[in-house]
Amino acid sequence: MEGKDVEKEKQEEGSELSAGNQSEPRLIAFVCNWCTYNGADLAGTSRMKYSDNVRVIKLPCTGRIDPLFIVEAFKKGAKGVLVSGCHPGDCHYTSGNYHSRRKYATFRDLLGYLGVDLNRVEFSWISASEGNKWVAVINEFTDKIKSLPAQTTDIFTKK
Ligand code: FES
Repeated sequence: MEGKDVEKEKQEEGSELSAGNQSEPRLIAFVCNWCTYNGADLAGTSRMKYSDNVRVIKLPCTGRIDPLFIVEAFKKGAKGVLVSGCHPGDCHYTSGNYHSRRKYATFRDLLGYLGVDLNRVEFSWISASEGNKWVAVINEFTDKIKSLPAQTTDIFTKK
């Protein structure tokens, strides 16, 4: 039985991201290495409990996030995408978070055009010492995604 569960999980974690279902949607968090990732790590090492719907993808900086990463996440079945990095003014690469936010401001119209409900994308700034904030943001984002009507567009799911 346990072997079957492991096999099923491997299939879910394969090339296509398991979308989860409406009650347990799969969420992706693109986080920067220096602040938010360490905040999430602090939450984990402090044994804080938070939603396990989220899958974390660590990047050097939010400025490294290509907007197409967000499209790809939805294409592979994510129901929500969070981008989180250092607070404004604290980016370890000086201004990567400003670039990220500006890129999204120009990119969000395209996401909407593709049929993504823009409520499904969220930005936040979480420092390495803010494990509590990580927990709050993840839990609130998960609740918000669960409360949204199912995404009806199939633009990303057509083969
Ligand atoms: S290093 Fe954290 S947002 Fe740039």
